[in-house]
Amino acid sequence: MCKFAVFGNPIKHSLSPNIHTQFAQQTRLEISYDKILAPVDDFSSSAQAFINQGANGFNITVPFKLDAFKFASELTLNAQTAGAVNTIKIKQDKIIGENTDGIGLINDLTRNLGIELKDKIVLILGAGGATQGILLPLLEQRPNRIMIANRTPSKAIKLAKDFAKFGKTCGFGLDKIKHDSVDIIINATSASLDGKIPDIASGIANNAICYDLMYGKQTPFMDWATTNHGSIISDGLGMLVEQAAAAFEFWTGATPNTKQVLSNLRR
Ligand code: ATR
Repeated sequence: MCKFAVFGNPIKHSLSPNIHTQFAQQTRLEISYDKILAPVDDFSSSAQAFINQGANGFNITVPFKLDAFKFASELTLNAQTAGAVNTIKIKQDKIIGENTDGIGLINDLTRNLGIELKDKIVLILGAGGATQGILLPLLEQRPNRIMIANRTPSKAIKLAKDFAKFGKTCGFGLDKIKHDSVDIIINATSASLDGKIPDIASGIANNAICYDLMYGKQTPFMDWATTNHGSIISDGLGMLVEQAAAAFEFWTGATPNTKQVLSNLRR
């Protein structure tokens, strides 16, 4: 029996136990998968206690991805560039930190939505942790370029500079987005949490694929995309399932059927 869990605060509404239990049934592996509410100021004691109980690995969600980054004894390249860890694997006495968020996004776009990223012009709204977490996997798909637009322009400029060694990136303020040149818009701001959308011109959505990293409901960004003629409009539920699948594979080596799980969740 493999022992897994997800750490967060709050954690009550996490879908991860449901998703991983379905993966385990599909792949005929015996696992336990718990939800653990860690205190906001002491992730590491909770994580260490779980490891001492014989854990094989765990997921980490808000607000502990940075704590998990510091807690890991080794980091994958994805985790290093993301500056955050959402998956930990225990291997002998090593605590290996990985970040599957970006892989989850790529697999949702390419496998579930049939969207290729090669040569596309991608616009990311926001320049926080969520954007940093997806930049390397996106650039590995060889898009024409990635434009990062942020309310605070300096943060977008810095992020674009930091990732320039992996591909073509540029950063600017929300008011500097060119209308006619965007294939895919990814909303990576936290504005949806406050029921808002970033302040951008309506023409930008025209025929672009609009993707909100926030899942679970019709977000203000998705409403905006619908009103402004976005082509495919998607929430981040597929990304949630795909990042979970990448974590499951990282732990067990088994590849789950994500389409089946996604359609169960949507039902
Ligand atoms: P996360 O880890 O979710 O990315 P974060 O690091 O706090 O969270 O980043 C939040 C991002 O959402 C930032 O890019 C923020 O813009 P600023 O850098 O200017 O603060 C963006 N954001 C949050 N609320 C927003 C709003 N109402 N309009 C536009 N951008 C917003």
